[in-house]
Amino acid sequence: MIDVHAVTIDYGQGEQTVRAVENVSFHLDKGKSLALIGPSGCGKTSLLFALSGLLYPRSGRITMGGEEVNTPRRDVALILQNAGLLPWKTVWQNANLSLLLNGEFPQQNAAEVLAHLGLDSVMKRFPAELSEGMKRRVGIARALSTSPSVLLMDEPLASLDTLTREKIQDLFLNLWHEHGFSLILVTHNIEEAAFLGQRIIVFTDRPARISAIVDNPQMGALDYRERSPFQAVMSQLREALEA
Ligand SMILES: Nc1ncnc2c1ncn2[C@@H]1O[C@H](COP(=O)(O)OP(=O)(O)OP(=O)(O)O)[C@@H](O)[C@H]1O
Ligand SMILES: [Mg+2]
Repeated sequence: MIDVHAVTIDYGQGEQTVRAVENVSFHLDKGKSLALIGPSGCGKTSLLFALSGLLYPRSGRITMGGEEVNTPRRDVALILQNAGLLPWKTVWQNANLSLLLNGEFPQQNAAEVLAHLGLDSVMKRFPAELSEGMKRRVGIARALSTSPSVLLMDEPLASLDTLTREKIQDLFLNLWHEHGFSLILVTHNIEEAAFLGQRIIVFTDRPARISAIVDNPQMGALDYRERSPFQAVMSQLREALEA
């Protein structure tokens, strides 16, 4: 379980202090998914960095499985907004980068994950030869290559066209069902939050405070985008963001 307790995040000291996140608390049970949505610049990435152990809160506490998060953990993977691919490495090498850098061999399911993401025919290609959607999928494959128990994603599908985005969201939902990791997704996109978040937290303007929590129990249902609960969750989110 992930437990975020009264977390406040500041940058800088004294008069120059910029408060990014204020008194945010929530928890997430193992294997569940949570989407974080809020206005641009409100503090979402800062919160994700704190969850990944890259940044330490000014006050409050984050624990995973009862242990305080104060440094990056091996069982937590982070997908940043631009997939962060190395241009001089192939798709296969990029996807397995964390393992190869540690002198480890890709696990058996590495090829399966790439195939699942439709990347098996481009394993030897370089990032410059890929479409934007393919690059994002390589980023997802990389995050899954270490079999994380927690996956943190920062706008992983931003600036993709709607159909590509929905296709990757569908793939992603399958991977989540199959692998059973806990998921925290930061997004600007109301549809993405409603499609991938079993629960959605809406933040205020900076400093990010929780302004609403929307439960989305039907998430993952067949053809969910066509269903009325999906539309209802989206209107709730729109209202909360406009408030
Ligand atoms: N290293 C830093 N030093 C000082 N201020 C920072 C730093 N990083 C972020 N900030 C400020 O903290 C606030 C929150 O930033 P953050 O990146 O967490 O927001 P965000 O919600 O992810 O924004 P976006 O939706 O645009 O990605 C912003 O006002 C930003 O300018
Ligand atoms: Mg951000």
